[in-house]
This record gives sequence, structure tokens and C-alpha cells, in this order.
Amino acid sequence: MRTVDLIDKKRRGLALSDEELAFLVTGYLAGEIPDYQMSAWLMAVALHGMSDTELSAFTACLAQSGETLDLSLIPGIKVDKHSTGGVGDKTTIVIAPLLAAIGVPMIKMSGRGLGHTGGTIDKLESIPGFRTDLSIPEMVAQVQRIGVALAGQTAELAPADKRIYALRDVTATVESLPLIASSVMSKKLASGADAIVLDVKVGDGAFMKTLADAKRLARAMVEIGNRAGRRTVAVLSSMEQPLGQAIGNALEIAEAIRVLQGEGPQDLTAVCLALASEMAVLAGAADHVKQAQEMLQAVIVDGRALAKLRSWIAAQGGDAAVVDDPARLPHAPVQRAWTAPCDGFVKELPALAFGSAAMRLGAGRAKKDDIIHPAVGIVLHKKIGDAVGAGEAVFTVHAVDQPSAQACIDELAQVIQIVEKPVDPLPLLLGRIQ
Ligand code: URA
Repeated sequence: MRTVDLIDKKRRGLALSDEELAFLVTGYLAGEIPDYQMSAWLMAVALHGMSDTELSAFTACLAQSGETLDLSLIPGIKVDKHSTGGVGDKTTIVIAPLLAAIGVPMIKMSGRGLGHTGGTIDKLESIPGFRTDLSIPEMVAQVQRIGVALAGQTAELAPADKRIYALRDVTATVESLPLIASSVMSKKLASGADAIVLDVKVGDGAFMKTLADAKRLARAMVEIGNRAGRRTVAVLSSMEQPLGQAIGNALEIAEAIRVLQGEGPQDLTAVCLALASEMAVLAGAADHVKQAQEMLQAVIVDGRALAKLRSWIAAQGGDAAVVDDPARLPHAPVQRAWTAPCDGFVKELPALAFGSAAMRLGAGRAKKDDIIHPAVGIVLHKKIGDAVGAGEAVFTVHAVDQPSAQACIDELAQVIQIVEKPVDPLPLLLGRIQ
């Protein structure tokens, strides 16, 4: 087999066989196929797409390129969750203890933030002492003990995806539906869960800007999961504005705690319950999502979800007292509010601009090795559709110094829109695909 023939085949829009895909992936990982040939093939995929069977076979090659987790020591159906990335998305931190509190085992690997989107691992590391470098045996033992464990993704998980993603990043081939779908699903398949719930974001702050594109991506990923024998459901939700009120690592932990106390923002709570109820049904803990929602609400009301969060944080070496005293989380020395210049209604709070502004404050990374400031970020006091009076605070910036707070305010003041006429709140949950 010659790589050049496989590039030529894809250039002509033809589907590669399982053997040809395996040749490409294993050859690239072994260093036998150079970057320039893989780049050419990726560009041909970006232009011509992949057939359904080709997509499943390619995903399986990526998933099998490294370690695959065996979760059979944990009793019950293991359900994983993946978000396609957004701003203010702290759903995993709410959902993990919530599900563990109703008896659904939660073992999960998560990533760090890059660009305008945050990462669950960075958020958890803002809790003093919290360890995210658990080994697989440590994770399994912790789930057996308390029902929940979460760690950073190991380098051995789908290493071919890691190398190919880095190449896509510099060859303008990230934005390809089959390449995104296979990349996401390869890591989910390698993580060993029996079932998967995908949180596919739509809008300004998301990969997929339109509902039609998000549905296409969701369908492709659901199909890959189901073909691989893992029951997979996708929930589509809006990412036009940040989710919840807090953007920034410690600020988001404090907000996740409020959700588990039953006092979180309505939109964030709704997305968490929608995803967690799908996961509970796939895990067999409930017959349908309505029943699952009632079970989840019950553990919020009676404090079991919060108790599970305390034991989870303590098990991973963190200061569990933050749950009852969030003032123990890192906080920023400078806090500056931006106030509305006139009476009106909030029309635009673009998620991308808020995520990018928070990143520049230090809440995220422009480059992989940038250092995170756990305390900085932005807290929204208003969301789209809310009425606001002249002089009322719309958001507060938490910064390390006055110049960075000012730069953030100047940047966001350009993109917020306040209008005279009432504005409808945005629809939040936009669909479900299975
Ligand atoms: N996230 C991934 O893991 N892969 C992609 O290709 C895009 C987003």
C-alpha cells in the first residue's frame, strides 16, 4: 500500500477501506508517514467528507491507537459525557456529584481549556489541593469507594488523535465535520464507558454556529457511538451567551456549588438537569427523563448532592470546606462593575467575546503553555432579555490589576447591546438526537 494512492483516492472523493485507514493511522503514529502526506489526506477529507462506514472505521483506528480503559471492575452501566465546548460551561462539575448521589457511577476524563472555552480540569484545580493527575487504578478505586472520580486525560488515550489534531490546527483542517466527530468520539470510545451523552453547543461561542450544522455534527457523533455498540444521545443547547453567570475557574466552582444547593442560575440548572437525566436513563437508574429529573431534584433538595461534592473534593485531596465557605476559593484583588448607560433590555452578550475577554484576563489560555489565574473572570448580573436600569451593574470583572480590568471592560462595552424595546429570552434547549 502506498500513502500517495490513499491521498489520491480521497482527493477523488472515494471512501477508504478499513485496512487503508488502519495503514494511515498506524503509519502516521509510527512516524512512517510524514506530516505533509497526512496533511494532504486531511485536507482531502475536509473537502470531500467521509462515508458513514469510513467515519466509524477511522474513529475506531484513532480510539485503538493507544490505551483503552477497562471499567469492568466498576459495577453498573458507566455513562460518559462530552461537551463540544463553550463559555461558562461548568456542567460536568455539577453533574458528576449529582449522578453519583443517585447511585450512577461517574468516572470521567476531562480536558484543559484552550482559546475562549474553559476546561473542567482547570476549574477543579482552582480548589486548593485538588488533584487531577489520578492514575486509572486510583480512579477505579475511588469510584468503587464514593461513586465519582475525575482526572485529566492521559497522553496514552487516543494518541493518534492527539498528533492529528495538532496537525489539523496548523493546516486549516480543524473545521471539518468528520474530523471533529471522529476526534471527539475516539476519546469517548477509548475511555471505556458503556453509553455516552453529548452536549452539543450551538451559536456564537460554539464550534457550530448554526442549529443545522450542530445537528449534522450531533447525528454523526451519535451514529459513531451507536455503531460502536455504545448507546449515545446528543442534547443540543444554546451557546449564544455564556452559560450561567460566572466565567472563570474559581468563580465557576462557586456557581456549580450554588446549583447543587438549589440556588444556581436557571439556565445552567436546566442544562445540567437535561444532561444528567439523559445519563441517568442510559445508566438504567430511571425509566424516563421525567423520573430522572425528579430523582436529581430530590438529591439537590435533601443535600445528598452537596454531600457527594464534599466527599469527591476530599477524596481528590481538595479543601472540601469550600463547599460551605466558597470564600476559601482564590479571589481576585480587583473587582470592577460595568453599569448600563441607559434604561433598557439586554439584547446581546456574545459568548465568544466574553470567553475571549476572560481568557485575556488570565482565566484561559491563548497558547497551550500559558499560565492560568484561577481567581479571575467575569460575573454576569443580567442575561439576554433582562430589563436593566441606567447605572445598574450588568457584569463585574474580577482581575489581577486595574489595567487588565479596564481593558476587559473597554472590550466588552463594545459588544454588549442594550435596547429600548423588550427582548425575548433566548431558547436554551434546542433539540435531542439519538
Ligand atoms: N474537540 C476535539 O476533541 N476534537 C476536535 O476536532 C474538535 C474539538
